[in-house]
Amino acid sequence: MEQKTFFIKTFGCQMNERDSEIMAQSLAGYGFIEGMDMYAADLVILNTCSIRAKAEQKVMSLLGYLRKFKEKRPDMQICVAGCVAQQEGARIIERMPHVNLVIGTQNIYDLGALLEKSVSQGSQVVTGLKNDYDIPRFLPEIALPENSFSATSPALSSRFRKFVTIMQGCNNYCTYCVVPYTRGREVSRKVKDIVDEVKVLVNSGIKEITLLGQNVNSYGKTNQVDPSNAKYAFADLLKDVSEISGLARLRFTTSNPKDLTDELMRCFRDIKNLCAQFHLPVQAGSDRTLQRMNRKYTVAQYLEKVDKLHEYCPEIALTTDVIVGFPGETDEDFAETMNLLETVRFHGSFSFKYSDRPGTRASQFEDKVAEHVKSERLALFQKRQDEISIERNREYLGKVKKVMIEENDTTGAKGRTETNHIVHFTEPLSSAPGDIVNARIFFAGQHSLQGKIENQH
Ligand code: SAH
Ligand code: SF4
Ligand code: F3S
Repeated sequence: MEQKTFFIKTFGCQMNERDSEIMAQSLAGYGFIEGMDMYAADLVILNTCSIRAKAEQKVMSLLGYLRKFKEKRPDMQICVAGCVAQQEGARIIERMPHVNLVIGTQNIYDLGALLEKSVSQGSQVVTGLKNDYDIPRFLPEIALPENSFSATSPALSSRFRKFVTIMQGCNNYCTYCVVPYTRGREVSRKVKDIVDEVKVLVNSGIKEITLLGQNVNSYGKTNQVDPSNAKYAFADLLKDVSEISGLARLRFTTSNPKDLTDELMRCFRDIKNLCAQFHLPVQAGSDRTLQRMNRKYTVAQYLEKVDKLHEYCPEIALTTDVIVGFPGETDEDFAETMNLLETVRFHGSFSFKYSDRPGTRASQFEDKVAEHVKSERLALFQKRQDEISIERNREYLGKVKKVMIEENDTTGAKGRTETNHIVHFTEPLSSAPGDIVNARIFFAGQHSLQGKIENQH
C-alpha cells in the first residue's frame, strides 16, 4: 500500500517548531511519511501563530487558498493546530468548512487518534485547555540521514542543534499578549523528562541544545519538577543539563527580566558550555509604558541586570524584543526607547508595531497610536538598530572565535559563534559539520561575519 504523505507548515515561535517536530514524529506511527509539496500532500497541518494580527491573517489566507486543492482531491485532510486553532476553535470550521480538524496547543499528542476520528465522524474541534496540564513524556527518535532536510521544520532538521521545550503556557498576562490565552496556564516539565530527552539527543550526535519556554526564568514555580527538591529552579536545570556528557553548547529562550535572578545571571560565568548569548526582551524604554504593559520592572532595573550580565560575562551578546506604538505611547516615551537602545547597544533586536489581540487588556485601551506613527517609529528604531548591529559586529574584527560548523561543501563553509553570530568561510574546511573550530574574524557585515581558520600551534 502506498504510504500517505503529510506536510506541516509552521508559523510563529520555536515552541511551534518543536511542536511540529513532535507531530511529525507521532504521524510516523500512523503510517505517514513527510512529503515535500504541501499542495500534493494527503495531510496538511498548519501549525499557526496568533501573536500579531498579521500572523493570523496569513493563516486564514493560506487556508482559503488550500480550498481549491481540497476540491480537486477531496481525500486531502486539512488540520489547523497551534495558537490560532486554540484561539478560534470552531469559528475556523464555520469560516473554512473544508478544514477536517482543529487541534489546540495541549492536544497535539493525540493528533493521530483525532485524525482517524475526523475521517470516520467528520470535522472535529478539540481545543481543551487544562489548568493542571502535564506535558506528556516524549522521547525523540532521531533518524535523520546525512544532509537530511525537513520541510516541516528546516531549523530543526539540523543534525547538531535541537530545541527542547521545558515548559508550556504563561501566567504573566502582559497586557498586549495573547499567549496566556492560546497556550494556557504555565506548567513546567519534570526535570527527569527533560534530562532524558536531552540525553537521547546528545547520544544521537546533537551538540547544541536550546531550552524553550515563554518565560524560562520561572521554571518550576507553578508545579514541582523534581520529586526530591521543591525549590528546584531554572538555574538548577541549566546546571544539570549542562553536565550531560557530550553537550558542547547550551542556550535558552525566552526570559522575562522581572524573574531574572542573580543566581541565573551567574550561570553565564560558571557554566562553561552555556553560550555567551542572551535574549532579554525589554519591550519598551519608558517606565510609564512598561507599567501599562504589566511588565513588572523598570528601565533602571533592566539596566542594572544588563550591567550585572556584563560583569559576569563580559563577552555576552544581548538581543531584545521591542514593541513600538503601544497604546498611549507618546513621542517622549518612544524617545526613551531610543535612549535605551543607545545605552545597551543590543547586538540585535526584533521590533514590532503594537497589534491589538483578542481578549487582551491592551486591546481595550482607548488611546491607540495611529498606524502611520507606529510605522515611523518602527522605521527609526530599526534603522538605528541596524547601525548598532554592524558596529557591534565590527567589534569582532581581528578576534579569534569558536565556531561550530553547520555546513561545509566545495564552495565554502558556515557556522555559528557562541554569541550566535553566523560566520562564513570562503574556502571548504577539513572539519566536519558539528566540529568546533577557531576562526579569526576578518570581515563584519550587517548580518554575518567572515572568518579564516586559525591554526593552533
Ligand atoms: N515570552 C516572550 C515573548 C513571546 S512573544 C517574552 O515575554 O519575552 C514574542 C514577542 O512578540 C514579544 O516579546 C513582543 O515583543 C511581541 N509581541 C507580543 N504581543 C504583541 C502584540 N500584541 N503586538 C506586537 N508585538 C507583540
Ligand atoms: Fe506574553 Fe508576557 Fe507571557 Fe511573554 S511573558 S508570553 S509577552 S504574557
Ligand atoms: Fe505565536 Fe503561539 Fe508562539 S502566538 S509566538 S506560536 S506561542
